[in-house]
Amino acid sequence: MTRQQVIPPIKGSYNVQSDLAEKQSIAWEEIEKNFSWHETGKVNMAYECVDRHVAEGFGEKIALHYVEGESEWKLTYEELKSETDRWARVLKKHGVNKGDFLFVFLPKHPECHIAILAAIKIGAVVGPLFEAFMEEAVRDRISDCGGKFLITNEEYLQRVPLEDLPSLETIFLTDKKPVSPDVISIPKELNSIANEEEIIEWVELDDGLNIHYTSGSTGKPKGIIHAHRAMIQQYITGRWVLDIKEDDVYWCTAHPGWVTGCVYGIFAPLLNRATIVLHGGRFNADSWYETIEKTGVTVWYSAPTAFRMLMAEGQEALERYDLSKLRHILSVGEPLNPEVIYWSVENLNLRIHDTWWMTETGAQLIVNLPTEPIKPGSMGKPLPNIETAVLDDEGNILPVGEVGHLAIKGPWPAIMKEVWNNEEKYATYFPFGPEWYLAGDLALKDEDGYIFFQGRSDDMINSSGERIGPFEVESKLIEHPAVAEAGVIGKPDFIRGEIVKAFIVLNKGYESTPEVLAEIRSFVRNRLAAHAAPREIEVVDELPKTKISGKILRRELKAKEVEKLNLVHA
Ligand code: PRX
Repeated sequence: MTRQQVIPPIKGSYNVQSDLAEKQSIAWEEIEKNFSWHETGKVNMAYECVDRHVAEGFGEKIALHYVEGESEWKLTYEELKSETDRWARVLKKHGVNKGDFLFVFLPKHPECHIAILAAIKIGAVVGPLFEAFMEEAVRDRISDCGGKFLITNEEYLQRVPLEDLPSLETIFLTDKKPVSPDVISIPKELNSIANEEEIIEWVELDDGLNIHYTSGSTGKPKGIIHAHRAMIQQYITGRWVLDIKEDDVYWCTAHPGWVTGCVYGIFAPLLNRATIVLHGGRFNADSWYETIEKTGVTVWYSAPTAFRMLMAEGQEALERYDLSKLRHILSVGEPLNPEVIYWSVENLNLRIHDTWWMTETGAQLIVNLPTEPIKPGSMGKPLPNIETAVLDDEGNILPVGEVGHLAIKGPWPAIMKEVWNNEEKYATYFPFGPEWYLAGDLALKDEDGYIFFQGRSDDMINSSGERIGPFEVESKLIEHPAVAEAGVIGKPDFIRGEIVKAFIVLNKGYESTPEVLAEIRSFVRNRLAAHAAPREIEVVDELPKTKISGKILRRELKAKEVEKLNLVHA
């Protein structure tokens, strides 16, 4: 098969969303009319995601379909409303109020979704935490914003360093038998909670909705807060980009601790009244294919690393399953190689639609609409209503084909409300004034307006679509007694896009043995998270540094690494 430079839409695989088909751009004000608050003035994301569908007569429809191994759990919209109401009452009874920071630290399971939606129902600002976080990652996040409440389970509570978190007032557990009298068992409380009617807290469009911590190239992770107004863009991208219609069974593979798992794993599909598939556990080719077959997934949103891992499993694995219900596939988080798109076209007769956005942007901004041609290697074009540009270092717009800073004209409905307690950081996204938001990505545009990702302008690492701050890893490494200095980079990797590689200088008295290096690696793994632990550690005599300030030159480390790889492949 000859590989096309441009892949046209595949007939029969997409819905033609009538509003988009009629016009190329629909003003945000028009889109707002899809929400009940447009008439009633009563705003709440959880109401629009759940209660509204019940009020409109769709209570019987399946909202969540959970599968893990042999076990399955289906919840209708009616059941999801009742569960989130009941949980919200328990939270309220124990002091959770509008504007409070409430963290959710649970595995991929309907209870995680219920906890998030229940907290939102009563106006709390919810902070979902990734399930694999270890003690320090949990501590950094909860302590930064003085989180007052936490919903977790007995097992995960072992990874919450309570002694370092004086701001935490109440801990809720999803287990029936609470470990100590200081914690509250939600199932136990649910037995005795009164079934009053209204529990929803009406909020303003600009009130806080959720907080996601995200890493950059410097400092600890920053808390990005989104507002309820994000629903306008999350709804419409669910419709135009995910292409969701009511009979769709939709699976987003990300955990809600990452922004994708929250926005496109919960909000966008529920706003569009889809059935959400939830798969417990991490990646496994057979159980992923089996999930698609068993639940009849029609729309699937995942990441390049996962697609590359599936490719590596080969044809046989693919052919063992009936994936014929799948009709639309999307990708996010890291560059999507053309190879992966061709694999999908050749094996599934479906294109993979790349999408670009960031934690800070709150929703997709650069997309491949199902009705448009795809240029493999490109992230797509700006969403209708969104204007992008490629700028030089002074903020001037660069001509077609030139590489520069990817910029988005602000504001748009889902843009972050603030960086928690850090106005200075917020300002760094707008170095040339309020007109242009700078992503920190380098890109170029072609003559048709397609945007091609060219790397980051800073040292942030992207491994399997997960954003890792080199500073965080370096800080952890030098806490280990054997490590004197550390420089951490993203080393290009075929499957994961990048892997975390650390260059370290050892303290006197330590030798570079496999045991010492393995010990250092698990030191980071057990304190931060598995994805942040260096997969490779190289011991060096010294690290390259700037002459004046003595800062480690990560770029130089990276350039040498890339050069080595090129020599190997030459
Ligand atoms: O560098 C870009 C990369 O991921 C960054 C955002 O990371 P995060 O806030 O964790 O959000 C991930 C998913 C919403 C971006 O600055 N990135 C995201 N999507 C793409 C991408 N790089 C290349 N292609 C993409 N489609």
